[in-house]
Amino acid sequence: MDLELGGKVVLVTGGSEGLGAAVARRLVREGAKVALCARGAERLEATAAALRAEGGDVLTVQADVSRAWEVEHFVDAAHARFGRIDGLVNNAGTAAGRPFASVSDAEWEADLQLKVFAAIRASRQALPFLKESGSGAIVNVLAIAAKTPGANSTPSSVSRAAGLALTKALSKELGPHAIRVNAVLVGIIESGQWARRAKEVGKPMESFLQEMARHAGIPLGRVGKAEEFADTVAFLLSPRGGYISGAAINVDGGLSAAV
Ligand SMILES: NC(=O)c1ccc[n+]([C@@H]2O[C@H](COP(=O)([O-])OP(=O)(O)OC[C@H]3O[C@@H](n4cnc5c(N)ncnc54)[C@H](OP(=O)(O)O)[C@@H]3O)[C@@H](O)[C@H]2O)c1
Repeated sequence: MDLELGGKVVLVTGGSEGLGAAVARRLVREGAKVALCARGAERLEATAAALRAEGGDVLTVQADVSRAWEVEHFVDAAHARFGRIDGLVNNAGTAAGRPFASVSDAEWEADLQLKVFAAIRASRQALPFLKESGSGAIVNVLAIAAKTPGANSTPSSVSRAAGLALTKALSKELGPHAIRVNAVLVGIIESGQWARRAKEVGKPMESFLQEMARHAGIPLGRVGKAEEFADTVAFLLSPRGGYISGAAINVDGGLSAAV
């Protein structure tokens, strides 16, 4: 299926590694131009170099999306470079789930800045450009805990639930401007964060992932591949997903208890 993404410009926050980098790769292979941001310049440049080697037109901006000015600058720099913005993937984030009593105000605030305010600010800054696009799309990357928060899952599950509300509210408000807004709820998918965790506990990545899948009880019996996630996001960004808006799609191998 041709996703009809050729020439479109898509911004991916947290695009230097893991799921964000996989989305960028899929978009480049579909002929889209991509702007990526992350905090670490070295990995960002390495990812961009690999994408350029595949023929990608790639802009990198070193930015911490939990800081207002930096995420806004990312959006403006992408527009200045490419002259248009058709898609935004609010992806940057990290796992943060702990016993409620142990989470300080500062940790709550940091999680909300990273996972909620960053998406709010990036979407608001990109809004005029997405309106001009005529077929704008926002994808908010969340976690299945957004719908099914468990014990010891704060602050992350609360931030993710806010992301769900943001997705639905914006889909209602921006639909008349031909902007679609959707969320992808991740279960457990192979990425940089799991590679780091496997290293920390001194286990080979493959057996670490197998253990996680078994322990979590994933119905498909395995963790997801970043490419499987990226295909879903690319479809939602593309005109082929043109009638899907306000949806929250689980990409979790059947793990979530909620539809
Ligand atoms: N993989 C999973 O199983 C899973 C499950 C549930 C939810 N998710 C969500 O999916 C998204 C992607 O996760 P992942 O697994 O791909 O993580 P990852 O492998 O750790 O990659 C995270 C990416 O985000 C960037 N990043 C982190 N903090 C940032 C910040 N403050 N500003 C800008 N960039 C930032 C990282 O680069 P720098 O560190 O250099 O900034 C990196 O490029 C996250 O929102 C995560 O919470 C993933």
